Amino acid sequence: MVTADDSSTKTHASTNTYRNTEMSSSNLGRRLVACLLNVSEAHKKDLVETVAKAAVYDLHGERREMTTVLNIFNDHDYNRSVITIVASIDTIKDAVLSACEKACGLIDMRAHTGVHPCMGSVDLVPIYPLGDDVGIDDCTKAARAVAEGLTERVQGTSVFLFGWADCPLQRGLAQRRKDMGWFKKTPDMLAIRPDVGPQPQKRYGLTGVGAGPYVMNCNVTIDTQDMALGRSIAAAIRESTPGGLPGVQVLALPHEGSVEIACNVESVQGSPPDRVAEPWPTFSIGGQPYCHIPASAITARVSELAERQGVVTKATALVGFTATECRFLAEGALLNDIAEFWKDQRRIHM
Ligand SMILES: *[C@@H]1O[C@H](CO)[C@@H](O)[C@H](O)[C@H]1NC(C)=O
Ligand SMILES: *[C@@H]1O[C@H](CO)[C@@H](O)[C@H](O)[C@H]1NC(C)=O
Repeated sequence: MVTADDSSTKTHASTNTYRNTEMSSSNLGRRLVACLLNVSEAHKKDLVETVAKAAVYDLHGERREMTTVLNIFNDHDYNRSVITIVASIDTIKDAVLSACEKACGLIDMRAHTGVHPCMGSVDLVPIYPLGDDVGIDDCTKAARAVAEGLTERVQGTSVFLFGWADCPLQRGLAQRRKDMGWFKKTPDMLAIRPDVGPQPQKRYGLTGVGAGPYVMNCNVTIDTQDMALGRSIAAAIRESTPGGLPGVQVLALPHEGSVEIACNVESVQGSPPDRVAEPWPTFSIGGQPYCHIPASAITARVSELAERQGVVTKATALVGFTATECRFLAEGALLNDIAEFWKDQRRIHM
């Protein structure tokens, strides 16, 4: 799915098509969950890979069972990387905690620079169910255990909780970030009240830990510098707009001389709408049906809206995968006992 010369792991929708709905679902995958671990470093690739390895090998270098790292995405502008760790619900806590510990040791937030404020050495720890035999409540338990474990193991770290892990209010990430002053230029550490751990310190900053249905990140770049057009497209496809796309939260951002329609795409409960142009990935969480709009459908809608104004679409980039792809790839990696799948996937064309 990623070409050999592309060392970042962006995928271009135009050059690859997935058939999610035809992917198998073996027993191996039934207890799998994913953690899209965000750490605040993108330029030092070796450092980020060292963090990823801490998820799949223990302190003695022994392979952790039922654990793999599928992908590493380095976001240079944000100076942040997303490490896709997949493990069984029984091993996820240990895998994620050792990666977090490693990241805290190596990433000093006093030195951090990037185009928007990252809050912590470990910035975000969202845990999502992938297999049929795990529910969001299992992920919530794991997330809360990670929050406790991190603040115990690394003295001076602090955590806020979001999504299902924020019991009982279940406030979303955007809301919690706002509560924590994330949108200010220089967040005032002393004004922050973390949910777990002490007052945040500059060294480690603040870590967000959460659980919920799978969220995919997908950006469509349009060939214009017209931010007003970008904003009107963003407004049209936003979930909260009548006729908007289910599960889609969106911002228009200027990016390298173009406009980027940056989407966070949540899985939604229920079945796909009737009359969709192509199949939507569907899966179940705790026996409930969920589905997910594919990136191709978002691209198609953005292109249609942009073309009305005579603007063409340049590319679509995905971070990580859809939940179905994530499970499918992880099953393959685990069957073949591949821990560092992110290295192999550069050679695999799907
Ligand atoms: C990225 O952030 C790290 C700390 O998180 C910092 O040490 C490094 O200098 C930053 N890199 C750039 C290019 O800003
Ligand atoms: C999508 O856009 C956001 C915001 O600019 C960025 O952080 C993220 O890395 C982008 N994702 C991809 C795959 O380019």
